[in-house]
Amino acid sequence: MSFVRVSGVGSYVPNKVVTNDDLSKIVDTSDEWISSRTGIKKRRIATSENTSDLAGKAALKALKNSAVKAEEIDLIIVATTTSDSFIPSMACKVQREIGAKNAVSFDIAAACSGLMYAMSIARTYIIAGIYKKALVIGSEVLSKVLNWEDRNTCVLFGDGAGAMILEASDLDGIPFMDIGSDPTKYEVLTSNGLALSNPFTECKADAAHYVEMNGKEVFKFAVNIIEKSINDILEKENLTIEDIDYIVCHQANYRIIDYVAKSFKGHREKFYMNLDEYGNTSSATIGIALDNMNDLGLLKKGQKIILVGFGGGLTWGSALVNW
Ligand code: ACO
Repeated sequence: MSFVRVSGVGSYVPNKVVTNDDLSKIVDTSDEWISSRTGIKKRRIATSENTSDLAGKAALKALKNSAVKAEEIDLIIVATTTSDSFIPSMACKVQREIGAKNAVSFDIAAACSGLMYAMSIARTYIIAGIYKKALVIGSEVLSKVLNWEDRNTCVLFGDGAGAMILEASDLDGIPFMDIGSDPTKYEVLTSNGLALSNPFTECKADAAHYVEMNGKEVFKFAVNIIEKSINDILEKENLTIEDIDYIVCHQANYRIIDYVAKSFKGHREKFYMNLDEYGNTSSATIGIALDNMNDLGLLKKGQKIILVGFGGGLTWGSALVNW
């Protein structure tokens, strides 16, 4: 049996920057409202690249960062809810794009928790000795499924991709992971897929795939699950919050993270945030945050980092990473 470590991170966001002021020209909103309610100042919006393009570029950066060659990758998992094709999968497109000719590739969907789910699957395969080097990616072009006339949702999201390389290792680089789902409240965060449409049904095709959300319910769920996930990791790994260097939560909303940070008094600075720059990029946020932290020189060997994702489903996932 082998351990697993994170050996590289990468991310990619489209060039087009859309500020809160830009949005105030499209819907009845303001920089003041968006900044004070969410912490978001701007986001990137895809104008020519789709979900698989963003995923491929994030993957190339993660490969470079880890010094792993594309041919060495034996597993590729892309987490997304905004695929640019049903067939082939985004993972197969990435595999072709980067030339990972020895990999098996597939997609998974767990909304904003997607990257944590993908990590958990890859970690399990590696621990079982089935694969040695995995590429996991969260990639989203949420701008395709936003109702640009609905100020309640369109101001919250952005497009982007985050990637990680996981490798078999003698060091226990991911000693703990947990994923979970509770569909009893699935209706608080939804985006419809294709409706029934064939010559034998009376159902009428419904073209609206818009993200719809009960913000207050999501807020309550998020603060509870983040706090619980952190406390579970500390208890199960026999650690205290003092032992942790960074906590990287799904970047949905400044107020969610700030609320949780108040429960860990004196450790506010450990909660990394970059949602002012990118908004909520769903399954991509944690990968983008880790890559930004790496570029800023914040991540150092031996550090302990807690990751917590949460999202539609409702779903959640957490990990303790020894960097
Ligand atoms: N600009 C101006 N006014 C707005 C906007 C906007 N963009 N959006 C909503 N409003 C208005 C509403 O219409 C409402 O007006 P009314 O009182 O006249 O009806 C008023 O602001 C208050 O609306 P609320 O929904 O009560 O606003 P709230 O303070 O709850 O903030 C928010 C909304 C930011 C979504 C909040 O509920 C929240 O933080 N929720 C967490 C969920 C979240 O962040 N989701 C992200 C995606 S989900 C995920 O990633 C898992």
